[in-house]
Amino acid sequence: MTQARGFVREIELPQIHDPRGDLTFVEGGNHLPFDIRRVYYLYNVPVDAKRGGHAHKELEQVVFALSGSFRIKIDDGTSRSEYWLRDPRKGLHISRLVWREMDSFSQGAVCMVLASLPYDEADYFRCYEEFRAAVSREMR
Ligand code: TYD
Repeated sequence: MTQARGFVREIELPQIHDPRGDLTFVEGGNHLPFDIRRVYYLYNVPVDAKRGGHAHKELEQVVFALSGSFRIKIDDGTSRSEYWLRDPRKGLHISRLVWREMDSFSQGAVCMVLASLPYDEADYFRCYEEFRAAVSREMR
């Protein structure tokens, strides 16, 4: 069943620390509330670039900063918030129906995204007004 309202929440993955370095792992359906169907990552991002600028009809994602840092601005159609990702253990779970914009990438930042579905352009809201209209319909 799909939930009516969009949401975000921070998740923290396990860390195995030893003198050789740190190791973090993630299991779909265990550390994440969905099976991982796709992984993609952003890198070589210019520091003044803006990414995102869309919401999804069904897709859920968890976003990590594997290296460096960046900001994610969140809008669920009624309220706005922002998060800074900079710890490879800490991800931001973004549900369906959440408008997100990402900016302020540090030099060499790597953003990894774990996604619940394969890529499908038909799942995107790329127009903010269409996104707001969909949120209003679901809240009626
Ligand atoms: P887009 O989702 O707009 O990137 P971002 O949200 O990071 O700004 O995707 C940019 C381009 O890459 C667009 O043409 C779609 C394509 N793309 C794929 O082909 N597969 C994918 O898994 C993703 C995420 C994007």
